[in-house]
Parts: sequence; structure tokens; C-alpha cells
Amino acid sequence: MAARDTLGRRLRSLRISVTDRCNLRCGYCMPEAEYVWLPRKDILTFEEIGFLVDVFASAGVDRVRITGGEPLLRTDLPDLVRLLAAKSPVRDLALTTNGVLLPERAEALRAAGLHRITVSLDTLRPDRFRNLTRFDALDAVRAGLAEAAAHFDIVKIDTVVIRGVNDDELVDILEYGRELGAEVRFIEYMDVGGATQWSAADVFSRAAMLQALAAHYGRVVAVDEVTSAPADRFRLDDGTTFGIISSTTEPFCRACDRSRLTADGLWYLCLYALQGTDLRGPLRAGAGAGELRRLIESVWTRRDDRGAERRLAAGDRQPLIPLEKLQREPHLEMHTRGG
Ligand code: GTP
Ligand code: 5AD
Ligand code: SF4
Repeated sequence: MAARDTLGRRLRSLRISVTDRCNLRCGYCMPEAEYVWLPRKDILTFEEIGFLVDVFASAGVDRVRITGGEPLLRTDLPDLVRLLAAKSPVRDLALTTNGVLLPERAEALRAAGLHRITVSLDTLRPDRFRNLTRFDALDAVRAGLAEAAAHFDIVKIDTVVIRGVNDDELVDILEYGRELGAEVRFIEYMDVGGATQWSAADVFSRAAMLQALAAHYGRVVAVDEVTSAPADRFRLDDGTTFGIISSTTEPFCRACDRSRLTADGLWYLCLYALQGTDLRGPLRAGAGAGELRRLIESVWTRRDDRGAERRLAAGDRQPLIPLEKLQREPHLEMHTRGG
């Protein structure tokens, strides 16, 4: 029986960040010159992650997503995939990556049992890519996406849309995804921890996205489905589907079954949560599966998080967390909690 929180939402999707490090520096996520990294001794081993996944599965989790930072920076990641893919309660095993290292890893990840891949890609223009990420890696990401499409049935592209930066590329990216056989999801720029340069004026809203796409394609129809997924899906007349993740202007907290485990074993319930629950401490002190399960269930049953809805209600929005506070507490960073 899955645990339910105070709003009746079940414990179901677990996002596991395997590293806080990244090989890109996207402006909406890691814009600063320097970061405080999690101490290496604190980073969970794959065996520890496997043990925790068993405990989470016993409390209801059946969907696992591996994230980072950039998860492929852990070169032996296929070993973790193999470990998790062998767990029968895990019915959905996915990876979110920036794609830079995918050309050499996609095949091994598939062979290890990964079900599906999501690649972040915000522009198809080399100069913009460099400005957005501070690295010249567009060709690598494109090659990574091609490799992913060759080995996986389900590939998605995550595109954060920022007003005046890449809002003129929606059609190009959708066409690129269509050719590749990958579903594109356009994401509103969120005021999460780490997004220190966020401003409301930079948000290209779901409504604006739909307007831009309709201006080019004509009719855009909402796909009628009820899910806990962040993306609402739409269909063009030619059958192409795409998603919009409108966490900023139309949050979807009411259906949220997600929580996140950081690379050093802190468990956060909400993208916007200021505090998490330390699981590494009890784990390394010898707590058994039953004890950890009771801890997880007691935290989840008290959960009332609606971070994005509360941010929307608050009005007059600024970046969620001031830089000095982020520099003292890396767990507040988006790249530490894995999105
Ligand atoms: P699917 O299972 O394929 O739907 O994956 P996903 O969309 O849950 O995961 P992905 O890593 O692709 O995340 C896409 C975007 O949605 C990222 O920008 C995430 O930060 C955002 N996102 C994921 N989960 C949440 C959440 O619980 N709340 C909010 N506000 N945003 C989220
Ligand atoms: N707003 C929206 N999406 C973001 N991501 C990272 N930071 C932000 C932000 N401030 C996205 C990345 C990736 C996913 C895991 O989170 O682009 O696709
Ligand atoms: Fe870009 Fe991913 Fe790094 Fe964020 S965490 S800066 S999305 S590569």
C-alpha cells in the first residue's frame, strides 16, 4: 500500500540525483562562477542507492528517474541502471541528462535496462547554445540525441523557454524532435533555487507558447488525459504531440507524486522545499529497511507541499533564494536536487 500525504497524493515517483556536478553552466540553473560541491565522502554509493530504492519501493515508489547535476558524469552509471532495472517494483526507470556524454553511453544504458531518456536542449543554434550553457557542446548533444533515438523507444526533449532568448525557436525544436521521433516538452522558466537571475519578465508562459505554435501550425488540441506528470500534452493536426510544463503560471501541485533524493542522501519532497530529511545518516548508522520505511512514511503522510502554487499565490516574485544563502546551503540548488 502506497503512503498518501495530507492532500491524498501517493508516494510514487522518486527522482534520484547521483551527482551535484555538471559539465554545462546553463544560465537558468547554474549561472554562478563558483559552486560549493557536496563532500565526496557523503555521496551515496550505488549499493546505498539500491538499498534506499528497495525501501522506497516498499512504501509505494514504482517510478524512478535518475538525474543530477549531470548524471553521466558518474562514468559507471550503467551499473546503477542495471541494479535498479533488476528491481521488479520499479516499473518506470528513466534518465534526465544534458546529453553531452550520451554519444558514448546511450547503447550501454539501454543494454543495462534503462527504459527511457529525456535530454535537455534549449536551442539548435551553436552561438546561442554557447551563450546559454557556456560550452560549445551542441554537436555532442545532437549526436547524443541521435544515439538515444537509435537505442530507445521513448526519447523526450526538455526545452526551457526564456523570453527574448529562445522563444523564437519553438517551431524549429518541435520539427527537430519530430524528425528524431522524440516528444518535445516546453518548460516555463521557474524561480527555483539556483535560478538567481530569474525575473517574471523572462517567463515565456504556456499561453504564449500555445499562441506561437498555433500561429505557425493552426489548430493545437489538448490531449485529454489525467496524469501526475508535470507536462500537459497537446496535438497538432498532423498528429505530432508535444508537452508544456507550466509550473510557473499554471502549477500542477495537486497531482504531484514526486520527491527527490540528493546525491548525499537527503530526501526533499518539493522542488521548492527549504528542508529535507536526512536518510544517509540513519542508513550509515545501520538503520534497517523497516526503520527507514517508517521514517519515509511518517514524513510523506505529513506532506502538504504545494511549492509552485504557493509561489504563484505570493505575487511580486523574485528569485526564490538569495545568492548568499545558496552559497551556504548547496542543497537549495536545483542542480543538487535534480529538478
Ligand atoms: P516524465 O516522467 O517523462 O513526465 O518526466 P518529468 O517531466 O517528470 O521529468 P523531467 O526530468 O523531464 O522534468 C521536466 C521538467 O519538469 C524539469 O524542468 C523539472 O524541473 C520539472 N519538474 C519535474 N518535477 C517537478 C515537480 O515536482 N514540480 C515542479 N514544479 N516541476 C517539476
Ligand atoms: N526553470 C525551468 N526548468 C529548469 N531546469 C533547470 N532549471 C530550471 C529552471 N530554472 C530543467 C532543466 C532540465 C530539467 C531537469 O530541469 O532544463 O531539463
Ligand atoms: Fe544545464 Fe543540467 Fe547543468 Fe542545469 S544541471 S546547468 S540543465 S546541464
